[in-house]
Amino acid sequence: MGLLLDTEELRRRVVDGWIGLYNPYPAEAVDLFHGNPLLPPPACVAEALRDLADSVATDADPAHAVLLHPYRAPEIIAPELEEAAVDDLARDGVPVRPGRREVVCGVGVTQLMAALLQAFGDSGGAVLFPTPTYTFPLLAAAQIGGRAIFLTPSIGELGYEVDVDRIAAALEAHRDIAALFLVNPGNPTGEVLSPRKLAQIAEVVARHPHVVVIVDEIYRHMILNGDAFQSFAAMMFDRTITLRGLSKCYGLARLRVGYAAAARDLLESIAIRTFIWFNTAAPSEVDQLLGAAALRCTPPSYFAWVVRTYRDLLEVVTARLAQINERTDGMVEYVRPAAGSFVLLRMPKVRGRMTRDGQVLLRDGDLSRSLLRRGLAVVPGSVFGIPEYDMVVRITFTSPLNDLLAGLDILESLLVETRTR
Ligand SMILES: Cc1ncc(COP(=O)(O)O)c(C=O)c1O
Repeated sequence: MGLLLDTEELRRRVVDGWIGLYNPYPAEAVDLFHGNPLLPPPACVAEALRDLADSVATDADPAHAVLLHPYRAPEIIAPELEEAAVDDLARDGVPVRPGRREVVCGVGVTQLMAALLQAFGDSGGAVLFPTPTYTFPLLAAAQIGGRAIFLTPSIGELGYEVDVDRIAAALEAHRDIAALFLVNPGNPTGEVLSPRKLAQIAEVVARHPHVVVIVDEIYRHMILNGDAFQSFAAMMFDRTITLRGLSKCYGLARLRVGYAAAARDLLESIAIRTFIWFNTAAPSEVDQLLGAAALRCTPPSYFAWVVRTYRDLLEVVTARLAQINERTDGMVEYVRPAAGSFVLLRMPKVRGRMTRDGQVLLRDGDLSRSLLRRGLAVVPGSVFGIPEYDMVVRITFTSPLNDLLAGLDILESLLVETRTR
């Protein structure tokens, strides 16, 4: 396989395998599709909401009341959120400073990512994505067409992983690349980028002074194997845009608060070309203040609980997969993820087999469709950049236990019923 995937082909896969298959979303299906956080947010966020409501009810000066505030020009982020984000980043050694417009707020990481792509696309630069990578950038990248460049996936000892040599080769071959997009820890791979690998990436990027690195760190508190988390921006602050949000580790997906942090000149030069520079595009003040509260009040014991709970669920899943493999002659290959919410299940042995209703399983989309007919929603690996014929699907293991068990029962029954033609 060559170095790059065909962006148009990838776009087709996202349209077919993600939007086509699951729109409208089948409400009755067992959901191992979404990357939903299972655990509720920290209790202190609910308290902050009550305090906020009380402050609105009792505030004598409507200009200070959170629901009635005028536009907050010129700030683009509530100062409370900015300060909390600065502290959050400082804990990982990222030297952003408050009051310098080094942090902007967006409607989740998703909006920030879309805005960054728009900005890089607008300036004529290309954006490089190692794959497998999660689908929101794929969809957004579809908007910048051929200027979204996707590396073919690499498989190492720990499964699909970021391949520094390929990044280096792509940067050499495509001098128009203006940004490299990383997800750390990864979705769908669960890879935690080691300090060594990050240092190698920094070395490669240093050879291309015009390249900016965007790192999505939304899963940073969901490292399950004890590996330490290292922020790339702590190594290469002047060239890095860090994206963080509250949807996953804090269980606050509906709050829709994310933030991007970078050195002021860098952030300004990019953000100024996009709508995120305008305070009218940010989440509401209420959401921002709750986001700030979550960053401030969440105790380490909450993340320890998150990690313990998700690690236990992953245990259940791997134990059940071992059983399935006993019963199906080892049809399901997988690598235990180090972090995040997902396991990639690789089923090359099922390729070419036929289901009871006569469907031949040739691509991962066939597999996903067959599972969906039997009541299980998963994501075909090809929408993340994995070859369709590898027969990979992504399941979420941070789902309710009953759903995990019901979903794996469906997977087992499909695999057991398939026959060679
Ligand atoms: C790596 C990654 N980043 C961002 C998001 C979405 O984040 P947000 O809810 O902040 O838009 C997801 C959701 O699946 C994700 O997996």
